[in-house]
Parts: sequence; structure tokens; C-alpha cells
Amino acid sequence: MDKHLETFISENAPLIDAEMNRLIVSEKAPRSLKESMLYSVNAGGKRIRPLLVLAVLTDFEKTSDDAFKVACAAELIHTYSLIHDDLPCMDDDDFRRGKPTNHRVYGEATAVLAGDALQTRAFGILASLENARPEQVIKLIALLADASGANGMVGGQILDMEGETASLSLEELEEVHVHKTGALLSFCIEAGGILCDASEEEMTQLRNYARNIGLAFQIKDDILDVTSTTEQLGKTANSDAASDKSTYPSLLGIDGAQQQLDKYHLDAIESLGFLKKETSMLKLFADYIVQRNA
Ligand code: IPE
Ligand code: IPE
Ligand code: MG
Ligand code: MG
Ligand code: MG
Repeated sequence: MDKHLETFISENAPLIDAEMNRLIVSEKAPRSLKESMLYSVNAGGKRIRPLLVLAVLTDFEKTSDDAFKVACAAELIHTYSLIHDDLPCMDDDDFRRGKPTNHRVYGEATAVLAGDALQTRAFGILASLENARPEQVIKLIALLADASGANGMVGGQILDMEGETASLSLEELEEVHVHKTGALLSFCIEAGGILCDASEEEMTQLRNYARNIGLAFQIKDDILDVTSTTEQLGKTANSDAASDKSTYPSLLGIDGAQQQLDKYHLDAIESLGFLKKETSMLKLFADYIVQRNA
């Protein structure tokens, strides 16, 4: 991994973890529910989404006292989406982040509720930001609702499920990816832009970048599902084939999927031209997303 990126991650990931814990522990909740929420939050994870929020600020050379809270809100939504994604009624997976899935430890009902509580906590965090201007807060809340709801991640998850029984075209598959994975990643990038007061032109470029890394992220996830082991991934390998998912590798083969991945990677980097920076943290993240092993 690039040295700058490595330093960025090792400095910020522990702060994200500490803040997420603080934000959950400080909330009043029945002990069993809090335990189940913290289990998935603290099971590990690459923290790519919250780190991307911070990366936008780094590239714009801006700071915001609310950045970590916004970053954590995105990671809590992501963690909730994984808990629900693993449920027997969805992907039915037993391992996540190197540990038994939430429902395997706490039971399905508690896992559903832990996901629900993580989701609502994320919105509560945004609503109580202390430094952002009110119009920034409203934009962030509306954007997160859109990115995680019917027109975003949840909508993508249902299209993904429908892709188990129908064979999707490349265009349809792209739609699934843009929604189920791209939407939340786009929130992270746009949220960073909002905190930086990015101009409309800058936002357009950031959205372009986000769309491309969103597609690249899920294609890489689907390639790793086929080429990696459960041990390396920390989640069950070959899970997609087991549930007959429509994926880039199932549609195009590994080489074809890799070609698409390279294309989106290049397009993502191209959209960062406006930054005019020698070392763009967002560029390093685009590289990492396509080169990672897990
Ligand atoms: C996995 O996301 C789910 C997808 C959207 C493909 P990550 O690969 O970011 O999972 P963690 O957070 O590192 O566990
Ligand atoms: C899930 O995609 C995306 C989510 C919205 C959670 P996958 O089902 O491919 O994610 P993994 O492989 O289980 O992490
Ligand atoms: Mg899934
Ligand atoms: Mg899954
Ligand atoms: Mg997957």
C-alpha cells in the first residue's frame, strides 16, 4: 500500500473507531441491544467509507470539527447494511469481518434490531452536529436518507436479490451496483464536499469520481468473492455463486470483470483532475479499492 495512504489510515482509523464507540456507548439502550450493535461495529472492517469523508477534506485542505461525526454516521449505516445483508433471508452468511455474523451470535431478531438502531443513530448524529451550518446539516441528512433508502442502498439490495432468479444484463447489473454499493460511497464523497463548501462544478466532479469508485468497489468485491479465500476475506468466499447472484464475474468472466474494473478506476482518477494536486488522497483510495486483497 502507498506510504501516504498507510499513514493516513493508521492515523485516522483508530480515531474513527473511538468516536463510533463513544457515539454508541453514550446512547441509552438496553444492554443486550448495545452489545449486539458494538459487536458488529468493533468486529473490524476497512473503514473505507468514513476514511473517504476525511480524504475529501484532506484533498481540499480544509478541516471541520464535524468531519468525524459525519464519517461515523456513514460507517454506522454501512455496518447496519452488512448485518441485514448477512441474514438468512438475504445472503445467509455465517462470517463477517473475521467473526461469526451478528445473527449467529445474537439471533436473528436482535440482529435486525441492532441494524435498525445503528441506522437511526446515524441520523441522530447528523441532526446533532454542532459546527456545521443548519443548511449543511439539512443537506447531509437528506443526502444520507436518499443514499441509504429506497432510491439508494436498500433499493439496490432488492434489485440484487431479484438478480438471483433472473439473469441481468450489464446495464441492469450496473444499476444494482450504483445503488447497493455506490450510493453510500457517493454520500461519503458528497458529504465531504458539503463540509468543504465545494462549488457546484467541484461537486459534479466529486460525484463523477464517486460513481466510478462505487462501481469499481463492487466489481472488486465480486472478483474477490470468486478468487479469494474465506480466511483472507473474513467473510464467506464463493457466497455469490452459492446464491446464484448476477455479478460481473458471472456475466463477463474474471478477465472481463477485471477490464471493467480497470476502466472505472481510470475514469475515477480522471475525474480528480480538477484538484491539481500531486498527492491526492482520493486518488490513493481509488488505487487501493482496486488493488486490495480483502
Ligand atoms: C462490503 O464492504 C460490502 C460491500 C458493499 C461490497 P467493505 O468491503 O467495505 O466491508 P468492510 O467494512 O471492510 O467489512
Ligand atoms: C452488499 O453486497 C452490499 C450492501 C449493501 C451490504 P454483497 O452482498 O456483495 O456484500 P458482501 O460480499 O456480503 O460483503
Ligand atoms: Mg448482498
Ligand atoms: Mg453479502
Ligand atoms: Mg460480495
